[in-house]
Amino acid sequence: MQFLKNFRPELIIESPGRINLIGEHTDYNLGYVLPTAIEKHITFSFQKNGSISDCNFFSKGWDVGFKADLKELSRSSVTWENYVLGVLFEITKRTNKLRGFNCVLESNLPQGSGLSSSAALECGLAFGLNELFALGLSKMDIVKLSQTAEHTYVGTQCGIMDQFASVMSETGHGILLDCRSLSYDLIPLVLAPYKIILLNTGVSHDLATSEYNVRKFECEEGVSIIKQTYPQIHSLREVTPEMLIANKHKMREVVYRRCSFILQENKRVLQMADALKKYDFKAAGNLLYEAHTGISELYEVSCKESDFLVDFSKGYTAVLGARQTGGGFGGCTLHLVHQEAVSQFITEATHEYRKQFGIQLTAFEVSPSKGTSISFVGQ
Ligand code: GLA
Repeated sequence: MQFLKNFRPELIIESPGRINLIGEHTDYNLGYVLPTAIEKHITFSFQKNGSISDCNFFSKGWDVGFKADLKELSRSSVTWENYVLGVLFEITKRTNKLRGFNCVLESNLPQGSGLSSSAALECGLAFGLNELFALGLSKMDIVKLSQTAEHTYVGTQCGIMDQFASVMSETGHGILLDCRSLSYDLIPLVLAPYKIILLNTGVSHDLATSEYNVRKFECEEGVSIIKQTYPQIHSLREVTPEMLIANKHKMREVVYRRCSFILQENKRVLQMADALKKYDFKAAGNLLYEAHTGISELYEVSCKESDFLVDFSKGYTAVLGARQTGGGFGGCTLHLVHQEAVSQFITEATHEYRKQFGIQLTAFEVSPSKGTSISFVGQ
């Protein structure tokens, strides 16, 4: 691309991926989640280009770029471009201060691995443009407009967790977020002698075309049935186990299972926060295993590869718990592993996984990291 010849970044932003310790698919049901950002991130280098509305993008990893005109924004047939275009569109709806710029992207965050590279892309872009053009957006504006961009331009009816975690995380902490009020507590994640190990199944999901939106509709179906008896109910967050059971006979069996999972998962998030505050890692590990069983059997967003890695962990006393993290259908499994057993566990898991599926596993340790931040400002 032409602009790369004279490219001198004025501003560099790092936007992280996230793990979710527990609380899966609870966000769009206005429940609780417990995510944190991780070290792996997308780097955005920005430069104003003096034009009114020409925006140029180049991805180093894919060696591909594209142009956008702020005056003529519309959806693209290329998926990753829609994350970018959606954010531009949402910003132009809120302010007229945006002008032309060039942007180079580089990433060490694996895509389609349940680590929310999409939120990292949306939030990093919004955060960077906010700085570059002094748009006056708050961090919450950035979180919300990024989520909306995903709804409108990408088509995934996602909750708010990923964008919230990407922007608001703090080093060494998990975020216990109430997705109804958007109030949150930072929970110190002091896990020694345990480590958070991610195993990337190498099996990718595509949330927009997968079952994600279907799960959301199934939960809404449950709410609308319960609402007939309890009109005060607006989301599964307000539903008690008694209310659900009282309405079981009116629901499709699958809807009952989805709702049961959400009720249980919300409870587990709060139990996890308690366990972590008390350094009760055994209880924390058990909650991870329980959550995975629900993800697999009740919510049915797991896959045989994730199930295998979680089950494999159960053979190790040094692994306290494990579950698939993120939207589902593959991506990464998260394991709480004693530091002395990490290397042996990874070696054996890699070997067994290859034997079973013929896929090379990628394993890495993650620690709770800070949210989207500036790493360089030019003169
Ligand atoms: C995806 C979505 C989130 C959340 C998770 C599942 O990552 O973007 O909003 O729903 O799936 O917990």
